[in-house]
Amino acid sequence: MKSTNAPKTGKELRKLYLRFFSERNHRVIPGKSLIPENDPTVLFTTAGMHPLVPFLLGEPHPEGKRLVNVQKCIRTGDIDEVGDPSHLTFFEMLGNWSLGDYFKEEAIRMSYDFLTSPDWLGLDPDTLSVTVFAGDEEVPADNESAAIWNSVGIPKERIYFLDRSENWWGPAGATGPCGPDTEMFVDTGKETCGPECKPGCSCGKYFEVWNDVFMEYNKQADGTYVPLSQKNVDTGMGVERTIAMLLGKKTVYETEFFQPILRSLEEHTGKPYGESEETTNSLRIISDHIKASVFILGDPRGVSPSNLGQGYILRRLLRRAIRHGRKLGVEGGLLTKPAGIVIEMYRDVYPELAEREAFILEELQSEEVRFLETLKKGEHEFEKLLPNLLKNKTAVIPGRLAFKLYDTYGFPVEITEELASEHGLSVDREGFQKAFEKHQQMSKKGAEKSFKGGLADNTTQTTRLHTATHLLHKALRMVLGDHVEQKGSNITPERLRFDFSHPEKMSPEQIEEVERIVNEQIERDLPVSVEVMSQDEAKESGAIALFGEKYEEQVKVYTIGDFSKEVCGGPHVERTGELGRFRIKKEQSSSSGIRRIRAVLEER
Ligand code: ALA
Repeated sequence: MKSTNAPKTGKELRKLYLRFFSERNHRVIPGKSLIPENDPTVLFTTAGMHPLVPFLLGEPHPEGKRLVNVQKCIRTGDIDEVGDPSHLTFFEMLGNWSLGDYFKEEAIRMSYDFLTSPDWLGLDPDTLSVTVFAGDEEVPADNESAAIWNSVGIPKERIYFLDRSENWWGPAGATGPCGPDTEMFVDTGKETCGPECKPGCSCGKYFEVWNDVFMEYNKQADGTYVPLSQKNVDTGMGVERTIAMLLGKKTVYETEFFQPILRSLEEHTGKPYGESEETTNSLRIISDHIKASVFILGDPRGVSPSNLGQGYILRRLLRRAIRHGRKLGVEGGLLTKPAGIVIEMYRDVYPELAEREAFILEELQSEEVRFLETLKKGEHEFEKLLPNLLKNKTAVIPGRLAFKLYDTYGFPVEITEELASEHGLSVDREGFQKAFEKHQQMSKKGAEKSFKGGLADNTTQTTRLHTATHLLHKALRMVLGDHVEQKGSNITPERLRFDFSHPEKMSPEQIEEVERIVNEQIERDLPVSVEVMSQDEAKESGAIALFGEKYEEQVKVYTIGDFSKEVCGGPHVERTGELGRFRIKKEQSSSSGIRRIRAVLEER
C-alpha cells in the first residue's frame, strides 16, 4: 500500500511535505495561533486556510503566491462524535496554497505526484479514488477536475461526482472564500459494506487523505456567490490520519499521536483499551479532549476555562473528559499526567506548550477540583429533588429544573440526564435549551450594561483614572506580554480596578516597572485624541479591543500619544499630564488565570 520510503512518523511526514512543496517554489510559512486574531467569525482556527483569509480575498501575501505550512487546528463542531474511530477535536493539517497562481491542473498533478511517486508517499495508484463536485443550481459540475484526474491516470470508475455536502468547502464563518473541492481516498482493502459503498462512506473501506479546494467564490452575507478576483488553491492533509493510513492502522488512536496518552490512562484507570466499546470510547474521549485542552491553554493566545467563547469550549472539553474519567472509576487527578505527556510529545514541534507548562497544569488542576466539587453539590441537589419527581410520577424532568441545576450549581445537563436515566426519568432538553437561551440573552444585556457602566460616574477624578487604565493596560502588555487581555474594569472616583489575564502573581519588580512606565507617560504629558472609525479600520490601526466583544459598526478609538490605542467609549482627559502620580496599591488573584490590580492617582 505504500513505498518503503514513506514516512512513518509525524516528524518525517511534516518534513517530507514541506520539502516537496518547497522544491516547487512554495514558501514555508509558520502555522498560526489556534485562536484567530481579530476574527469574530470563528472561535478556533479550523483549517490552514483560516489565517490566510485576507490573502485568499486578494490582499498580497508578504511571502508571495505559493505557500505551504503545518497548521494546528481545533474543530469542535463534532465534539459529541469524538470517541468513534475517526473524529478528533485537535489535529494538525498540512496545506499548500496558490494565491491566484496555479489552479486545478497543477494542484491535482502535484497532489498525485506526492501521493504516488516512490520518492514521496509512494502509494499504489490503483488504490486511489477521488471525488469531485457534482454541481447544482448555483455552481456547475467540476468536469475540469475530473478530466485532469483522468489524464493523470485515475480511471473514470474511480472518479466520483458528489454533491455540495461532500465536495464543497464553505467559508469558515458565514461569509468568505469558498469553492468546489476534490478529495483523495485510499482503499484500505477492507470488504465493501454494500453496493452503495464509495469514498465518503464511513465504514472504513475508504480512507480520506487529502482535500484540494478550488476557491473561486466569495460567499456574501446575503448567501450569494461572487467570483473572486483571483482563483486560489487551498489544500489540507491531516497529519494524524495520513500516518495512520501509511502504517496500515485502523484509527489514529493506534498511532504515536495517542499511544503514550492512552497507555498512561490505561495505567491510571486500570481499564485496557479495547476491553469493551464503552471503555475504548471513554479512553479516546479523554485522550482527545485532554490533548485539545493542552493546545488551547498552551497557545500563545491561550485562554482559561470560563463560561464564554473559547473558554467555554475548553471547559466543555475538560468536563467531558472528567465525566468519562468518572465512568472509568477515576475521581480526581485525571488530567495533569496525560497533559504532561502531551507537552512532552510535542516539545519539538510546538515549544509554546512547554513554555506554558506551569500555567497549563495549574489550570487543569483547578478546573478539575472545581468541577468535582460542582458534581458533588449537584448530585446532592438532584437527590433532594428526586423524591418529589418520583412521587409525582414525573417521567420527564422539566427543562427549567435542569437549567436551575446547571445555573445554580454548574451541573451539566448531560449529567442530570445520566442520573435521571438511572431512575427511569428523562430530561426535557428543549425546555432546558429555551431556559438557557433566555438566560444568555439576559446576561448579554447585563454585560452591555456593565461595560458601559465600567465607570461609576463622569467626575474629573473618574475620568483621570479611566485614562490611567488605558496606560496601565498597555504597560502590562509591555512588561508581561501580549497575552494580557482586559477581563474587566471598574472605576470609582477613589480608585481603579482592572482585571486581566495572566497566569501568575506579578513580581514586585514587574509591578514597579509597570508603575514606572505609566508615570513616564504621565510626565510626557501626551495628548489624548479620539477618532470614529469602522471596526475594521480600528483593527487595522492596531487598536486594542476586548476580544470577543461585540462592538457597533463604527467605534471610537482613543489614542494616547504614541503610547496606546484602544477601542473605548470614553470619556478621557485631554492630556496625560493631568493625571498626577500613579500608584498600584494591590495585585491579587481575581479568579483562575485572571489577576486584579487596584491603583490610585495621587497628588504630585
Ligand atoms: N480547507 C480545506 C480543508 O480543511 C483544505 O479540508
